[in-house]
Amino acid sequence: MTGPDTEHTNGHRPAFGLPHEPDPASALSTAALVALHAPSVHNTQPWHWRVGTDRVDLYADERWRLRVADPDGRLLVLSCGAALHHARVALRAMGFLPSVRRFPDRTRPDLLASLAVDKPIPVTAQALDLMRATTARHTDRRGIADSPVPERTLAVLREAAGSEGAWLHLLNDDQVRTVVAAAARAEAVEMGDAAFRRELDSWTNRPADVTVGIPATVHPPRGDEYSRTGHYAVLYGSGDRPTAWLRAGEALSAVWLTATAHGLAIRPISAVIEIPAGRAVLHKVLSGVGSPYLMLRIGVPVGTNGVSMTPRRPAEESVGLLTEPADEAASEAP
Ligand SMILES: Cc1cc2nc3c(=O)[nH]c(=O)nc-3n(C[C@H](O)[C@H](O)[C@H](O)COP(=O)(O)O)c2cc1C
Repeated sequence: MTGPDTEHTNGHRPAFGLPHEPDPASALSTAALVALHAPSVHNTQPWHWRVGTDRVDLYADERWRLRVADPDGRLLVLSCGAALHHARVALRAMGFLPSVRRFPDRTRPDLLASLAVDKPIPVTAQALDLMRATTARHTDRRGIADSPVPERTLAVLREAAGSEGAWLHLLNDDQVRTVVAAAARAEAVEMGDAAFRRELDSWTNRPADVTVGIPATVHPPRGDEYSRTGHYAVLYGSGDRPTAWLRAGEALSAVWLTATAHGLAIRPISAVIEIPAGRAVLHKVLSGVGSPYLMLRIGVPVGTNGVSMTPRRPAEESVGLLTEPADEAASEAP
């Protein structure tokens, strides 16, 4: 594996290599490193991995929760779910069937998942495509080219969400108008709140050498989300609790990595999710079926230049060692 695509301007991301003929222990620790490339709200990277020889545990790190924009931790758990999916992708690319226990300990709600290796499996071309996408993927906030995504590719993205237990609803033009109006109202409410503005300011427009948050060199995460071109979609599913949010995050990663592998650009839009009135509008757009988790803009990128890669914390700050004994884990379908 290499670092980010050299056509993108810089931003430190942890480098790692896939081990040759890895044993389960080295595959698990590599999977935790690959997961550090996952997207997270405002690049908070709200996760902590603890690596053992026979499992790796994923914890939500509450220190990084956005207290104003994300009081329930919905976006935090979504971000961790994306990291979990990245780790699962890495295990498959190293020839191991992952087994996952989600929320394995009722007394530790911050322990989101325990990931282990079930058995060796053949490495497929699809697994390698998704693996490559983990380092190429980035949030593309530039404009979107004026060419529609082929219906068959959109169907592949819907399947990617479905394979992770969530759904991707592509909005029609009327729905886009409704949701954009709701998002504008949500942003106005948020920007009228001094605490929200302070929080947003503290995570964005940061110095170029930071390792969390969004540096000023990266296109701003708020404003001009709604280009006339591109497709808008809502990621949704059943349930509005941490168990559902974790799966939704896995689905987000599945959709995003698949889109990256197909050369598409994605920009999440979370303002409309952050306030109850915005979620209510999305719920109605979904005809009352399911809970909305995130809105996405999907499209053909305008080119490959001018995207800044957002940095990550050094791996040692997000990955530590596990000391507890392992439990039995349930397998994932091959
Ligand atoms: C749950 C979630 C919500 C996000 N919301 C937004 C958003 O509203 N606007 C935006 O521009 N980016 C959004 N992002 C993208 C993050 O800012 C981005 O993942 C992070 O800065 C890391 O950059 P990268 O995706 O380029 O690696 C979101 C990401 C996640 C996982």
